[in-house]
Amino acid sequence: MTYDGMADFVAELEKSGELVRISRRVDPVLEVAAIADRVMKAAGPALLFERVGHSPFPLLINVYGSRRRMSMALGVSDLEDHASAIERLVHARPGLSAAGIASALLNIPDLLSLAPRKASAAPCQEVVSTGDEVDLDELPILTSWPNDGGPFITLPNVITRDPETGARNIGMYRMQRIDRRTTAMHWQVHKTGARHFRRAKELGLRRLEVAVALGGDPALTYAATAPLPDGIDEWTFAGYLRKSAIKTAPCKTIALEVPADADFVLEGYVDPSEPLFDEGPFGDHTGYYTPVDKFPRFHVTALTRRRNAVYPCTLVGPPPMEDAWLGKATERLFLPLLRTMFPEIVDMNLPVYGAFHNLVLVAIKKQYPMHAARLAHGLWGSGQMSFSKVICVVDDDVDVQNEAEVAWRLLANLDPQRDVSFVQGPIDQLDHGANQALFGGKMAIDGTRKWPEEGYKREWPEVLRMTDDVERRVDAMWSELGIDLGAARGGKAPHANGVSRASEAAAARLFRAAKVALGREP
Ligand SMILES: Cc1cc2nc3c(=O)[nH]c(=O)nc-3n(C[C@H](O)[C@H](O)[C@H](O)COP(=O)(O)O)c2cc1C
Repeated sequence: MTYDGMADFVAELEKSGELVRISRRVDPVLEVAAIADRVMKAAGPALLFERVGHSPFPLLINVYGSRRRMSMALGVSDLEDHASAIERLVHARPGLSAAGIASALLNIPDLLSLAPRKASAAPCQEVVSTGDEVDLDELPILTSWPNDGGPFITLPNVITRDPETGARNIGMYRMQRIDRRTTAMHWQVHKTGARHFRRAKELGLRRLEVAVALGGDPALTYAATAPLPDGIDEWTFAGYLRKSAIKTAPCKTIALEVPADADFVLEGYVDPSEPLFDEGPFGDHTGYYTPVDKFPRFHVTALTRRRNAVYPCTLVGPPPMEDAWLGKATERLFLPLLRTMFPEIVDMNLPVYGAFHNLVLVAIKKQYPMHAARLAHGLWGSGQMSFSKVICVVDDDVDVQNEAEVAWRLLANLDPQRDVSFVQGPIDQLDHGANQALFGGKMAIDGTRKWPEEGYKREWPEVLRMTDDVERRVDAMWSELGIDLGAARGGKAPHANGVSRASEAAAARLFRAAKVALGREP
């Protein structure tokens, strides 16, 4: 399933009852954000603001803000469809590392046809402004929170090439408006764009060319957020997800390619010899303001766009927000890849309130003493999982998608003195908990059942569970009892983490499938 730009996705969302149009004029300074915040907190629809300040362009927000819309954006009825397809592909190639698997995945002959290729036409260049004509103030760029340092572009696909190898990278790095033709480029120190920038500086280059695509097929924007190993092409991954190659067009003023179906493209460069800009503050996805820090300036040499361009953006802040679902997609799609390195993992949950890297709940099939500790250390050595601040490991009979169950089982099994361990290492650049930026403490909690080999000297108790035959008898008599549990729970009590019942059911299916695969259940 592919979408020809944001307007096409808007039409699909509208047809599916997933979008509300707002025709009243709204201010891009705080008002749009305050409206979107309420809608995101209530798991509401995507919003198309038709008149934002004086911008001639409509603004689209919260398109990824539910499991259904996230799945639609990736062209499937549910995220698990992609997860199980990736699982099947992975099993076709046993014995490879995660990076090897990711690379193998994208090089399987069928998939080679999904590598980006040249487009015959470039809708993203229907209207072209260069040099002095460029005016970023035409875009309805949001100021999200009262103490933000200014307006920020929040859903950019930032395209760079490794100055040495030429390998392309697409990452999502927010961009603060500085003036009509300049923004900041907030690639954090651990990210690939920052590595390209450092290399350009080491090589003494005066320019690292950068292109920024906004909009286009929504799978592209997801791929820019995905934690693919450095060197694995995000657009081939997006092509794989939407089952159709991304079509690219050469830029007008720099030697980079951009997705031909993008809504807007900013072409330009960063100059590694130029003094850095004081970026921020920014109301971040941690729910706190990230303070001012130094980042490069992005100079825009051209602004190109579709005639019917729609400006896509998001709001981050205290969770839950739209980005929770981008994170959930990554959790589901990358679990099969993580399992290639850690086959003991049965399921994993990065809870929404853990803001991606603060909390990992992981269920394992424990096979030897201190297995939980080994897994935690393995995760701390794996790509962006290395930023995980707290890792909680439980046994495979705990459903990690059910956070209440994890709390019950983990805390009941816990001897804090025995089961909690600490390490130091790199942490997410946005983390403010540590005494200093970029490194700090991390914690693993081993909530698994303890074995005699681990020094447990008593008999481990059994978890309470009704017998199946009694459950069946109660099922059979239930309708005669006159108890309406649906009504008692309001009929639609959401899961503690805001995940819908449909997703609970999908997770339960996956959990069971994983148990079957591991031979725990027939
Ligand atoms: C809405 C949203 C905004 C993000 N903003 C930033 C950002 O400003 N800077 C950054 O380094 N990462 C940001 N990220 C995370 C990166 O996009 C993500 O880590 C990605 O995998 C980086 O790609 P890379 O490994 O190719 O650098 C953001 C993610 C999302 C979902």
